[in-house]
Amino acid sequence: MRRIAVLASGRGSNLQVLVDAIAAGQLNGEIVGVFSDRSRAGALQRARDAGIPAFSLRPRDFDSRQAFDDALFSLVDSVQPDLIVCAGYMRLLNANVVEARPGRMINIHPSLLPDFKGLHTHQQALDAGVGLHGASVHVVTAELDGGPVVAQARVAVEAGDDAASLAARVLEREHPLLLATVAGLLDGRIAIHGAHPCFEGEPLHAPLQLGADNALHAPST
Ligand code: GAR
Repeated sequence: MRRIAVLASGRGSNLQVLVDAIAAGQLNGEIVGVFSDRSRAGALQRARDAGIPAFSLRPRDFDSRQAFDDALFSLVDSVQPDLIVCAGYMRLLNANVVEARPGRMINIHPSLLPDFKGLHTHQQALDAGVGLHGASVHVVTAELDGGPVVAQARVAVEAGDDAASLAARVLEREHPLLLATVAGLLDGRIAIHGAHPCFEGEPLHAPLQLGADNALHAPST
């Protein structure tokens, strides 16, 4: 795996981490295109600044979600990615585009899945009163935020946290989490067979954990 496509709807800080790591020689891959459903996404500008082809399509120009996804993914296919990383891509994906790319799409989500799928995950965590929150990288399947989790980073909820403070601390851990997971996929330590993640040749029965050393560690049990 070497050629990476990134889908992003927003500011693109997770994209930037991958761009910077590649520029620093820390990631043995290449971002071959950045794709968005929002023409003003900061991620697109970050891509252009890095000399990466950047594409956007407007959902309202299409008759259906299906037609939009088909058009977007024909652009994605045109750059021939080995790996498709959803990094803050905020649109639901049709099952057909996911199922046509088994094991090649991952998503970063700001919660410890399966808890707090969907939107407003930090507020959901605060409302539930959990002590531990975080972020997950999972295999994209047709089920929203429902594919097998490859790796997680845990973040303690602190007294006095609001959604913004918690989001900021989770984002700080999202960056090394995404980087370590993509690095693992590129160097083959992590593989996805169908929708099933493996680590060092063994099927993963629980998510890898991001350590304080920013490396991924096999779950203890
Ligand atoms: C990140 O927090 C990411 O986990 C989240 O959007 C943010 C994008 O930030 N993704 C989702 O909520 C997907 N369900 P970024 O644009 O700065 O990378």
